[in-house]
Amino acid sequence: MNSQLEKIIKKYDSNKYRLMDILIDIQAEFGHISKEATKDVAKELDMAVVDVEETLTFYHFFTNESVGNNTIYLNDSVVACMSGREEIKVAFENAAGCKFGEVTGDGKIGLFNTACIGMNDQEPAAIINGKIFPKLTPGAAKGIVAGLKDGVNVKDLHHQAYGDSKNASADIMSMVNNNIKKEGKVLFAEFTPGAALKTKLVSFTAKEVISEVKKSNIRGRGGAGFPTGLKWDFCSKSEGSKRYVLCNADEGEPGTFKDRVLLTERPEMLFDGMAIGAYAVGAQEGILYLRYEYKYLETYLEKVLEEARKDNRLGQNISGIEGFNFDIRIQYGAGAYVCGEETALIESAEGKRGEPRDKPPFPVAKGYMQLPTIINNVETFCSVVKIIENGGDWFKGIGTEDSSGTKLLSISGDCAESGVYEIEWGMTINEMLDMVGAKDVQAVQVSGPSGQLIGPKDYGRKICYSDLASGGSMIVLGKDRDILKEVVLNFMEFFIEESCGSCSTCRIIPKLMKERLEKILNGKGVMKDISDLEEWGSIPKVSRCGLGQTAANPIITSIANFRELYEAKVQKDVEYDCGFNMDDAVKASCAFVDRIPNAH
Ligand SMILES: Cc1cc2nc3c(=O)[nH]c(=O)nc-3n(C[C@H](O)[C@H](O)[C@H](O)COP(=O)(O)O)c2cc1C
Ligand code: SF4
Repeated sequence: MNSQLEKIIKKYDSNKYRLMDILIDIQAEFGHISKEATKDVAKELDMAVVDVEETLTFYHFFTNESVGNNTIYLNDSVVACMSGREEIKVAFENAAGCKFGEVTGDGKIGLFNTACIGMNDQEPAAIINGKIFPKLTPGAAKGIVAGLKDGVNVKDLHHQAYGDSKNASADIMSMVNNNIKKEGKVLFAEFTPGAALKTKLVSFTAKEVISEVKKSNIRGRGGAGFPTGLKWDFCSKSEGSKRYVLCNADEGEPGTFKDRVLLTERPEMLFDGMAIGAYAVGAQEGILYLRYEYKYLETYLEKVLEEARKDNRLGQNISGIEGFNFDIRIQYGAGAYVCGEETALIESAEGKRGEPRDKPPFPVAKGYMQLPTIINNVETFCSVVKIIENGGDWFKGIGTEDSSGTKLLSISGDCAESGVYEIEWGMTINEMLDMVGAKDVQAVQVSGPSGQLIGPKDYGRKICYSDLASGGSMIVLGKDRDILKEVVLNFMEFFIEESCGSCSTCRIIPKLMKERLEKILNGKGVMKDISDLEEWGSIPKVSRCGLGQTAANPIITSIANFRELYEAKVQKDVEYDCGFNMDDAVKASCAFVDRIPNAH
């Protein structure tokens, strides 16, 4: 076996539950994971080759063929396209001399598309050899490729200054910007690492922590809004030889980037929050599940963890509390939106395909390694620190009756001030649009593709659980946007690409709906197509997880609020049109067998 490969496997004690880490390291070292490497890994981990292949083939950033010595992953999500992605794509292709999806003949450059990388406020953006290149211009793209061709290390390639605040620190040195536009009373208020642990937690029992969190009424900030105190209570009462605390930093919902900003500006707060969770439920091990796209923060986050250990905020007898032992490791993902779903995340953290589990049992009873586990979003853990510091009642006094505390919004699209805003729940969409300098707004995509597309009649609605709940992604769409083509179609393609494929409803219905939408966009639609779409839209609800259950939302909510856009595109005087086009069909079949169609 190759000695480098052997070293990687040994680094993880030949532990099959660390398969993700092993594959991530192999991909980084060799540029791909070859058949031989797959076999060697299987042998060393005492696994079937097919089981290693199952994991390897599931994730976007694992490849069994070379993706080039230098790999450019260019974001193809909605806001990237709205911000001039096409021009950047062409510039990369011209400079590299190959198309997207290909590697140059000399193997030096590979060009690939990728879903939202959490940089909506600084698009068009790409990940190049793990480093983020935001706000690309055609000139920058050309210069980057020239540098890579000349053998310049990607670390030394810059087309703009390092980003704001900690992004510019020696441990990150990234061009990414935080763009924090509004600081609220909780997350961006003054913060001293360890204060909650050392001054408050020391006088609380685990039960008292849970009751304080319950009193605060905080609900999970990852989207589903489940009451955090209740979740922790269930976990603390579940039978198990061990318990785990997992933090969901997968942040894959297109349009959201607030967790990235917390990870950059408030990692100490996050780790303190995870420690508080561990104290409450009696866990000794924690995992931060971090999306691969944010791996550029690795050195920095490891350093922050090390400092927390030195400061007795992690480790043994934390803050002097006898028997309170807890530590955290970082588990990287490898490019799969579905891994943000909590049970898929657990599967992935165990080294497997990110396929959601059937629920129940819920993670609080059988989670990581089938043991009781709490999983919370980055923002939830950070908020809990302030709840323990200032009390549940203080937190409950912020926001509205049913939605306590503050909420981070990631706002992007057609507005003057894209960025992260810490608002109090209860702000209206109108107030939000004023705040970000958005004018002539045609629509707002609330909570990303799995949320809803709303129009002006809803701008008076409040952002809170009893009205417009939101995980934080807000995309503003100006009056000139072609909503069906630029937004809805892109979102449907996203869901189709990201389905794990387990449920037939999730595999088939979004694809059929997208094809019907394309038929309408191609001028072949009739009124019945709109009603068919509405009817089919309810079928995915029986899918196993939230991805499939919401995959029809882009079409369903856009028909509900922008029906006129669909009606304007269909043929009113035609009752039936099968949408078949002979010329297109001939072209497609000729392309398949590499023939040139006859002119007629
Ligand atoms: C397809 C899908 C993707 C998800 N992605 C995320 C994510 O990136 N981050 C997150 O915190 N929650 C995500 N969730 C929600 C999680 O399943 C879970 O509810 C959440 O992590 C719980 O934490 P919270 O209670 O603190 O919100 C996703 C759910 C689904 C169905
Ligand atoms: S709904 Fe879709 S993503 Fe979720 S388990 Fe089923 S196939 Fe997989």
